[in-house]
Amino acid sequence: MNENATRPIGVFDSGVGGLTVANAIRQVLPNERLIYFGDTAHLPYGDKSKETIMGYSARITRFLLDQQCKVIVIACNTASANAYETIVSESVDRALVVDVINPVVEFVTAGSKYKRIGVIGTKGTINSGTYVGKIIARNPHISVESLATPMLVPMIEEGFIFDDISNAIIRTYLSKPELSQIQALILGCTHYPIIKNQINKFFNFEVDVIDSSRIVANHLRNILVTHNLLNQNPDPGHKFYVSDFTDYFQAISKLFFEENIALEKINLWN
Ligand code: DGL
Repeated sequence: MNENATRPIGVFDSGVGGLTVANAIRQVLPNERLIYFGDTAHLPYGDKSKETIMGYSARITRFLLDQQCKVIVIACNTASANAYETIVSESVDRALVVDVINPVVEFVTAGSKYKRIGVIGTKGTINSGTYVGKIIARNPHISVESLATPMLVPMIEEGFIFDDISNAIIRTYLSKPELSQIQALILGCTHYPIIKNQINKFFNFEVDVIDSSRIVANHLRNILVTHNLLNQNPDPGHKFYVSDFTDYFQAISKLFFEENIALEKINLWN
């Protein structure tokens, strides 16, 4: 086995939502050791400027590289949309980089299944135009409509998931004309897989609701295989760091990772 194969996989997000991606990764790649970093001191990234997101992402990338990570997974759509190039240049010759947008763009543009696609995400993700630009660059015949849905993150974090409030917010956003006649909807935010069932129901299961976490985990496995970096020996000692710790973050982390985990505070900005 390649000696680098036993190095961990670094996964980061603005907070604990990226644990949906970490959860998919541990299911698809059970031998891999994960080092997760949630930048809870600086969230939400969705409302921040590109420069600020680039700065935070660069610092976190250096931390994960110091932990000897073989791959950096940007488990945050807003950071993927605004800081991908920064993270790649920080990691050059030291680690591979996987984001949550490129694998989904490849997935929806493979074949010619979709003619009209919707994307929902934070303001930072949607205003960057990254999804639209990348999809159209691969297939100019697809029409892509995007919609910022900023109320969904706080709604999910506050536990409004299966009730009248969440149904009203979901219905209000998804009824917008931008999303009419779509054949697929990309969930362009780490939190949205939590409300996938409600979104499916809204569309009467007639629209393909694309949850990036599984797609990203499968893409990561392919990358590891291609680079001979797949860990053959089980190494489950995952670590979960956050830049700010509260009982609230600890409590909601279970919602995203589907298991109790211990968050550990570490300050990268001293
Ligand atoms: N993790 C972010 C994303 O996927 C959502 C939360 C935030 O705005 O920081 O875009």
